[in-house]
Amino acid sequence: YRLAVLISGTGTNLQAIIDYAKAEKYRIEVVLVISNVDKVAGLERARQNNIENIVIDHKRYTTRKQFEKELDHVLKEKSVNLICLAGFMRILTIDFVNQWKGKIINTHPSLLPAFPGCGAVLQALTAGVKITGCTIHFVEAKVDSGPIIVQESVPILPDDSETTLSQRIKTAEHRCYPQAIDLIIKEQVKYVDGKLSWLTSH
Ligand code: GRF
Repeated sequence: YRLAVLISGTGTNLQAIIDYAKAEKYRIEVVLVISNVDKVAGLERARQNNIENIVIDHKRYTTRKQFEKELDHVLKEKSVNLICLAGFMRILTIDFVNQWKGKIINTHPSLLPAFPGCGAVLQALTAGVKITGCTIHFVEAKVDSGPIIVQESVPILPDDSETTLSQRIKTAEHRCYPQAIDLIIKEQVKYVDGKLSWLTSH
């Protein structure tokens, strides 16, 4: 599998994917890291691991379509067959999602469908729930709505701040993201023609 990881920031999920790909180097290669923001720590992580990395600055394109046309071009040029959104803070249009459906996954820092959208960690904290978590899902046109592949619960502690809770959720994401990729490359889970199917073990 040829993976591209799309980021916008620190890239700790990118790091977890890189580490996992190293352990599975005969089956997985992170061939490209794309950030829509320059000078983020995630790009440094790519460089440290000799992974091709580019910035596609969305502010340089007048329309989402043109931004995505460039995105699509580089992904196709590198023969990417699995796109991992990891803290990528741009909404992708239905056209782009439909072109890559079943081959694009995302991590969200809550137990979807609870707390979709941005600020999910703060939403959970503010809601006063005792359990939140993370979700790795196939990307659908509607934000944070695609079929769920892996989830892990994370407790919210009385003295939690957004930072401490986000950190605990990220630790869970760093376990869940490789698990989700593993399920996909082993074809235990597929999302084809809008249908999620699991390969039953028995
Ligand atoms: C992750 O917690 C992800 O769920 C959220 O943004 C964070 C990105 O963190 N969308 P990192 O850049 O992978 O460290």
